[in-house]
Amino acid sequence: MADDPETMKASGRRAGKRAVVALGILGLLVAAIFLANPEGFYLWAKAIHVIAVISWMAGMLYLPRLFIYHCEAERGSAQSETFKVMERRLLRVIINPAMTVAWVFGLWLAWHAGVYLEYWFLLKLAGALVMSGAHGYFSSAVRAFGEDRNEKTERHWRLVNEIPTVLMILIVVMVVVRPF
Ligand code: HEM
Repeated sequence: MADDPETMKASGRRAGKRAVVALGILGLLVAAIFLANPEGFYLWAKAIHVIAVISWMAGMLYLPRLFIYHCEAERGSAQSETFKVMERRLLRVIINPAMTVAWVFGLWLAWHAGVYLEYWFLLKLAGALVMSGAHGYFSSAVRAFGEDRNEKTERHWRLVNEIPTVLMILIVVMVVVRPF
């Protein structure tokens, strides 16, 4: 896997392009479903929302794990360069598109169901906003590792790894149980 940086960058760009094409195809599919069955579209939208949040959460739980192992790899080593590619692709090809789709369909669902003033939804939204903040922090860490300037310790990333887990539990309980 330890290709030269230029080859890795090029394959990263190709992966990014594939993510954009995938989002384009999803857009066309959603438009077709909406036109074919506008009454039943709400459940399709919710299914797409849940698929997107599963992908987003998978990435948010895995990326800090990569940071933990990356802290153990020597800077400039083949292993460190491989972690850079894995982190960048996970972020660009999975986490970023999944978060975008989760927000777009989530906000549409909230608007369509008229739930945006309900307490369970406001607490869920607060959890999703903090999750998006963690997303931003992870994005800056991918850049820092990519430029060999990460100063955070393995212990730091182990602690940070718990944040998406706790938020995910809170968010799912709010939307499924609706305790408030
Ligand atoms: C990013 C901002 C988000 C917004 C605006 C949002 C909004 C919504 C809305 C309005 C619903 C539909 C409720 C219904 O019809 O019953 C929903 C369903 C759902 N959301 Fe989200 N959501 C977001 C993020 C998330 C995240 C991060 C997770 C998981 C970690 C999540 C998990 C779910 C689940 C599991 C359902 C289906 C619940 C059910 O059918 O019982 N959402 N979301």
